[in-house]
Amino acid sequence: MNYIKDKKDLNGKIVLLRLDLNVPIKNGKITDETRIDKILPIFKYLIEKNSKIIVISHIGRPKGVRNEKLSLDPVCKCLETKLQKKIELIKDNIYNLNKKNLSKKFVNQIIFLENIRFYKEEEDNNNEFSKQLASLGDLFVNDAFSCSHRTHASVCRITKFLPSYAGLQFETEINALKKVTTEIKKPITCIVGGSKISTKIPVIKNLIPKFDNIIVVGGMANNILKFKGHPIGKSLQEINCEAIISDIFKLAKNHSCSIIFPQDVVVGKTIESNGEIKELNEVNNDDLILDIGPKTIENISKIIEKSKTILWNGPAGYFENFHFAKGSFEIGKKIAEKNKLNKIFSVVGGGDTVALINNIGIFDSFNFVSTAGGAFLEYLEGKKLPGIKALN
Ligand code: 3PG
Repeated sequence: MNYIKDKKDLNGKIVLLRLDLNVPIKNGKITDETRIDKILPIFKYLIEKNSKIIVISHIGRPKGVRNEKLSLDPVCKCLETKLQKKIELIKDNIYNLNKKNLSKKFVNQIIFLENIRFYKEEEDNNNEFSKQLASLGDLFVNDAFSCSHRTHASVCRITKFLPSYAGLQFETEINALKKVTTEIKKPITCIVGGSKISTKIPVIKNLIPKFDNIIVVGGMANNILKFKGHPIGKSLQEINCEAIISDIFKLAKNHSCSIIFPQDVVVGKTIESNGEIKELNEVNNDDLILDIGPKTIENISKIIEKSKTILWNGPAGYFENFHFAKGSFEIGKKIAEKNKLNKIFSVVGGGDTVALINNIGIFDSFNFVSTAGGAFLEYLEGKKLPGIKALN
């Protein structure tokens, strides 16, 4: 892999910089800036080298359709303040751009292309689209490790058309995760939560041989509860997961890995409701499971207490509403407490989980904070991530 820090002669070069600026936004305001703060070094580096920077990023999953709510506008404004530089957000169709018409837009070294997932071709890893993107720059830098599990045009195919390099944050993330996976101390517990069930549920199977405990919370736990015959009302779930879950339990038995899932839950009628603690068999048809209950929290605390390594990815509930935040807060606090006593090695990953630990002021209580969610888990699985392969 080539690293941007080793590249000479960046003076005046146009760098297509893939970043993951998929930050949480509520009513047009960014609610957690960690992913932006983590990529400031690459901007400072390229600015110092006198490069011109074209930023490519996505927010959310617009599925190939332009959606103003998922514009990169708030991110540009935030970066303008942090870097003290005017940044132009180019809303024109990418197919109408070329090096010549873009050159006039570089008022202050940095321009942004609008959300790359407004183009269906991005997720299709489309060849012509990648070629068009590549024609706008002189070299490509991937500083979005957290997108490197996606075989998308601006992560993978673009590397066919330009000299390509790993960015500074990309390198930091890989080095830290390499260290975690080689120097890991047992018992190892992995906590997997969040709402991206389809991305994460297949990963669990491959994590089983490596871990002593896998704690499943968040959206994925609903699928497990349903599989075990418990009612889940109108909670978030993925369809057709029964075979995967059955395999997870079979494999876990063979590898003496404990799969821990909720014993009680907190429900609401909507995500804005107050929370109500319920036993598993009390969940009604119109209930949404939005957090883990007190018995589950206690059980998880005991497991964390006995663990030497904790890897945590994905909140336990809908923590954006404080009625459903207790599960995630208590998990975070317990890990932080053990970390302070130097009794645990802890790594946390994922946009929402990082926002959560920032929220409760325990960011510094983890040995490593990765910006990556799905990519973090797939890396732990031992998978060769397509974005890393493309750079190689
Ligand atoms: C993330 O938040 O993990 C990355 O931005 C990737 O997002 P995705 O799961 O929508 O591909």
